[in-house]
Amino acid sequence: MTPAPSAVSAGMAVQRVRDDLLARGLVAGLTAEFLAGITRFARPPEPELDALAAAAGGLAARLADGRAGDDDLPLLTRVLYFAGHAGVLADAGLRTPAYDVRGSYRDNLAAPLGPRLPERPRAGGGRRWRVLGRAVGFPIGVPACVLNGGAEEVRHNARNGWSVLTYKTVRSRAHEPNRRPNWAFASRSTASFPPGAAVEVVADPWDWVDPGAPEVSTVNSFGVPSPAPEEWMADLERSLAVLDDDQLLLVSVMGEDADGGGIGALVADFARTARMAEEAGAPVVELNLSCPNTLDRSASGVKPPLCLDADAAVAVVEGVRRALGDRTGLVAKLSWLDEGRLAALVPRLAPLVDGIAGINTLQGVVRRSDGEPTFPGRRLAGVSGIAARDSALDFTRRLVALREGGGAHFDVLAMGGVTDVASCAALFALGADAVQSASGAFADPYLARDCIAALGATLPRAVEGDR
Ligand SMILES: Cc1cc2nc3c(=O)[nH]c(=O)nc-3n(C[C@H](O)[C@H](O)[C@H](O)COP(=O)(O)O)c2cc1C
Repeated sequence: MTPAPSAVSAGMAVQRVRDDLLARGLVAGLTAEFLAGITRFARPPEPELDALAAAAGGLAARLADGRAGDDDLPLLTRVLYFAGHAGVLADAGLRTPAYDVRGSYRDNLAAPLGPRLPERPRAGGGRRWRVLGRAVGFPIGVPACVLNGGAEEVRHNARNGWSVLTYKTVRSRAHEPNRRPNWAFASRSTASFPPGAAVEVVADPWDWVDPGAPEVSTVNSFGVPSPAPEEWMADLERSLAVLDDDQLLLVSVMGEDADGGGIGALVADFARTARMAEEAGAPVVELNLSCPNTLDRSASGVKPPLCLDADAAVAVVEGVRRALGDRTGLVAKLSWLDEGRLAALVPRLAPLVDGIAGINTLQGVVRRSDGEPTFPGRRLAGVSGIAARDSALDFTRRLVALREGGGAHFDVLAMGGVTDVASCAALFALGADAVQSASGAFADPYLARDCIAALGATLPRAVEGDR
């Protein structure tokens, strides 16, 4: 069994990785595999490529003759990740990004990447918090994203300490992911955009941020893929079964107006998908109102989020609320909205839902350093991590104020830019009932453990255990 990572020094771990690589005969081919990995979707400029090749070659030589030491850990992590051998790092309890950008979306569903803790970390004193009417262990989680697209991933995240998980957005029919690449670090975006600012980001497929670095941003363009309902419903049942009784799995759904039937068709498809989730056992359905608005016939490429159309969003929530049983919780997930839009929408949603979640990724122009789109053929993509942090803080502050000023209570599930303990604590301090992290969970497999260790004894409003 993998020892607890904290018990293994970096030096010992590097040694262990080296032994493992040598035993598997992987050292000799490492430089070539690394270069194949970083040039898979585009080629770095020659001087940069030469420098990376020299660094990887030097590392391989030190691994071969036993000179590799603690200082090599960051480079070793990068080289093994892009070479497709991050599993070796995880076996040694070392941090790796949680999604294999070399593999397909399907590959990742079946085989979550990264170290898994031997024991689920818990807040001391049996403390639990109330989220959406359920008592949960420390109320942090992974939101709807590809890290929660299948039972193996849900199991992995739940074990690592995330207790408010949202199963990735599913649809009423199978939908293939966009062509790869689909996800990359945006290593130049180390600060937050101001709320409402135009977002433009440079991200190369070979960009890298050391796992655990709080200044991490990522860009993605998956196109909201979904397996066929019979597949995801069976998988959802398995996902629910792997959770402890103080862990909660929401299921994110989206609907579409595929044939131009208008708002009625859109509502019906949302309701159909929500009912399927309920039938498979979902205790809470999350409506992805930040999904592309398929009613919008004018937009080419990525369509604007549905929640910008308040009437359509409210019609969807009303229709789904009517279709679901009383015991099924309902959450509306929004994108960042400006002051007027949020203030107009929230009072209409509040009486219909148990919770409001947000924010989704910021939609922005995402280019490589040579000016071409990072995701070929798709100029716009989702930007998140620290780049979205101030937008999430701004949104959560206004959402909590609207809750306080309004008549109906709803829980706030806050997310956007949570990449370390401080950014997690900041959203709780604003009044969030649960906090989720996608880019942070991707970049740091121990983020939940660290948040629980730092905040587990002090987070207010526990409903069970030491209060
Ligand atoms: C790779 C990736 C895939 C995502 N897929 C979905 C999705 O299917 N449905 C959804 O509601 N949000 C999706 N999101 C948005 C996240 O749930 C979250 O709202 C957003 O990333 C902001 O959080 P972060 O800054 O922690 O990444 C995705 C985000 C990422 C990074």
